[in-house]
Amino acid sequence: MNIFLTGATGFLGGELLVVLSKRLDVDKIFCLVRSNNEEEGLARIEKIFKLHDDYFDEKKIFPVLGNLIDDNIQNQLETNPNLQDIDVIIHSAANTSFSKIYDDLVEKVNIHGFNSILQWSKGLKSLKTFVYVGTATICGKGVTHCLVHEDDSPNINSKHFVKYTFTKMTSEMMLRKELPEDKILVVRPSIIMGDSRELIPRSPVILWTLATLNLMRLVPVNPAAKLDIIPVDYAANSIVALLFAKRHYTTYHVSSGEASMTDSKKVTDSIEDKFPDKPVFKFVQRALMSQMKNWSRNRLQPESELHDHGEYLDYWNSIFEDNSKLRILFAGLEPYIEFIELGQIFDNSRLLEDTDMGNSIPADIYINNSIKFLDKIDVFEGALDP
Ligand SMILES: NC(=O)c1ccc[n+]([C@@H]2O[C@H](COP(=O)([O-])OP(=O)(O)OC[C@H]3O[C@@H](n4cnc5c(N)ncnc54)[C@H](OP(=O)(O)O)[C@@H]3O)[C@@H](O)[C@H]2O)c1
Repeated sequence: MNIFLTGATGFLGGELLVVLSKRLDVDKIFCLVRSNNEEEGLARIEKIFKLHDDYFDEKKIFPVLGNLIDDNIQNQLETNPNLQDIDVIIHSAANTSFSKIYDDLVEKVNIHGFNSILQWSKGLKSLKTFVYVGTATICGKGVTHCLVHEDDSPNINSKHFVKYTFTKMTSEMMLRKELPEDKILVVRPSIIMGDSRELIPRSPVILWTLATLNLMRLVPVNPAAKLDIIPVDYAANSIVALLFAKRHYTTYHVSSGEASMTDSKKVTDSIEDKFPDKPVFKFVQRALMSQMKNWSRNRLQPESELHDHGEYLDYWNSIFEDNSKLRILFAGLEPYIEFIELGQIFDNSRLLEDTDMGNSIPADIYINNSIKFLDKIDVFEGALDP
């Protein structure tokens, strides 16, 4: 089997590449990589394997230089002689930013870039499966505190917090329109955070949120809102298992489901005593976020409720030389808090039925393996690049 993989240099794509590279039934993996030249492209791929000391097989894995936002990308792929007998495309690349300033780029990469891959795929004679890595959050913000099933989405009337989920939904719909059903595999991960193994996580994304809350300790979130979080190793293994499974559906949640769901309180409880120097976690209403922002601008009103939590303000003063820095953190954190509050859990019965993956380890348990990495995450860098 010959595979074309996009997004290999990313969080999930890197793990997918390593898992696929270990399979004997996979002959070659071509990875779309952004880089200036072949050497740099190869180095970016090699780095993925070096991170956890995985074996890199140069005879099996090949970089294909390209950028999804290049107008010429479809033609580049069509005329590449190495890509004529691709059996499987796994499209994991995306711009995952929640920040409004990247909206145009998000659309370019996630819709137009995706469409280039889709149009190229239609001309591939040997193509058996197009795996589209979507997201379970395409159900939108109108769906709250319930168990979401695969068939609930896509829903053209769904409302979205961020352009990212809208673009992921749009591309999924384009895929269904243009390719026959027997060639489609849509996998929709829930929230991917960290790694369940005792390994440095491939990316601080989402773990960044926890690192930030761990630093702040005053958490403007409903502690009981249910959370569907999975580790990246489980996500990658599930997607590969689905690729090789006898499938009864075209679309699968890759999620914790009800059996392994968690909530913010459980997650913070598991890390609480590992940082004895910090104040205890205290959950407050989300509405206090705007007062926190005022505090960081030195504009907190004397009658503000936030003064009731003065010990946290003193603590923030003690750890941040400059209050305004907290504004950066709050801005980065806000969209994540909105998602946390939705209380969406994604049914995983299909994944359990068609693979032998079993349920994921709940995040409040596997997070113990990542605790030593939490303090090393640069929260400000994460906030600037959400
Ligand atoms: N992480 C989650 O919680 C989560 C949850 C549900 C679904 N997903 C989906 O899973 C997939 C992977 O997400 P991730 O967390 O691994 O994201 P990520 O770490 O941000 O990786 C994104 C990947 O896409 C590539 N990419 C971005 N723009 C590109 C462009 N213009 N041309 C070519 N490649 C480009 C990046 O390449 P560079 O390295 O060159 O930037 C990187 O390899 C996405 O489709 C996402 O929607 C993720």
